[in-house]
Amino acid sequence: MTTTTTTSPSSSRSSSLSIDNPNNVIERIGRTPLIELTSFSTQKVKLFAKLEWFNPFGSVKDRAAYWMVMDAERKGILKKDKSVIIEPTSGNTGIALAGIAASLGYKVEIVIPDKVSEETKRILRHLGATLHETSDDLCPRVGAGTDQSIALAKAIAKPRPDIYYMPNQYENDANFFAHYESTGPEIWSQTDGKISHFLTGCGTGGTITGTATFLKEKKRDIKVIAIQAQRNHLLQGLRNFEESSMPDLFKRRENVVDEWMTATNDDSFNMVKQLAAKERLLVGPSSGSVMDSMLKTAEKLDSGILVGIFADDGRKFKSLYTQQNVFTGDQYERELKSAKNLSSAAFMLN
Ligand SMILES: Cc1ncc(COP(=O)(O)O)c(C=O)c1O
Repeated sequence: MTTTTTTSPSSSRSSSLSIDNPNNVIERIGRTPLIELTSFSTQKVKLFAKLEWFNPFGSVKDRAAYWMVMDAERKGILKKDKSVIIEPTSGNTGIALAGIAASLGYKVEIVIPDKVSEETKRILRHLGATLHETSDDLCPRVGAGTDQSIALAKAIAKPRPDIYYMPNQYENDANFFAHYESTGPEIWSQTDGKISHFLTGCGTGGTITGTATFLKEKKRDIKVIAIQAQRNHLLQGLRNFEESSMPDLFKRRENVVDEWMTATNDDSFNMVKQLAAKERLLVGPSSGSVMDSMLKTAEKLDSGILVGIFADDGRKFKSLYTQQNVFTGDQYERELKSAKNLSSAAFMLN
């Protein structure tokens, strides 16, 4: 096993993290826009995307990170200027934890597969996180790698329980409650209760179990569609549940899922291109996966209101998209310039 640890210089931490009023940033978590994808909707089947990159640290994971940190504060586990939060993550949870922790006065260490995009690692360092990178030998795939990352984070934290706190998004019910108490109610009210299908990609399962549990309590026949990645995938944030085990958090409420779909890299990247061309949305890879599943579901319906979670935008993925020939470097820059609905996420303020 090889690991690399990098710490951002303390000077860059204070100068680059332009969070002048931490409370303002944290108050901006949740209440993300729901937009209709008009070029994909038909008269009777309407498609909507919940733009989670409007969260202050740029993804759906701000919700889980915030709920887990608040839960630990309430339980007296976290102590200001002493506690170190450590978490295994393929990116977005780390970014969210690093941003929230920096705002609240905790240090953060992230265990991350080195296959994760360079942009993601740069943002993490920029937010002041220490990175423990696991090698590709150790984690040949993002999915399988996450399991190895969990083991490494536990090994680092175990000898120092007085300092280290690992929220462990894979087991922590606060991750479920984040979506039960925020994402679900938002979608319910933004669709005036008319939602018929809910679709999201799955990592820990927090988003799907929390949101869907709330929605089904409101209307039992809402159809819940879970999207996993193909084996050996490049879809950051998603898992394939054959090559990588189902987290305990997900297993507890797995029965909320009505249907499983599997997204391939190619179909997801194709949708990333189509969303840029038709909707001027520059999305992350997993939003391409969700879009692909929404369209395949919509084709089989006579009517419906479909809502998909677009977990993050494409600004962390220039290197992935150019390597995978989704866009050339020039095309990417053009898409970025003409993109609509980009947020001013806190990590972009440098
Ligand atoms: C980038 C990204 N992160 C996280 C998630 C959701 O993950 P979780 O199941 O851990 O809530 C998704 C789901 O689409 C995602 O695309």
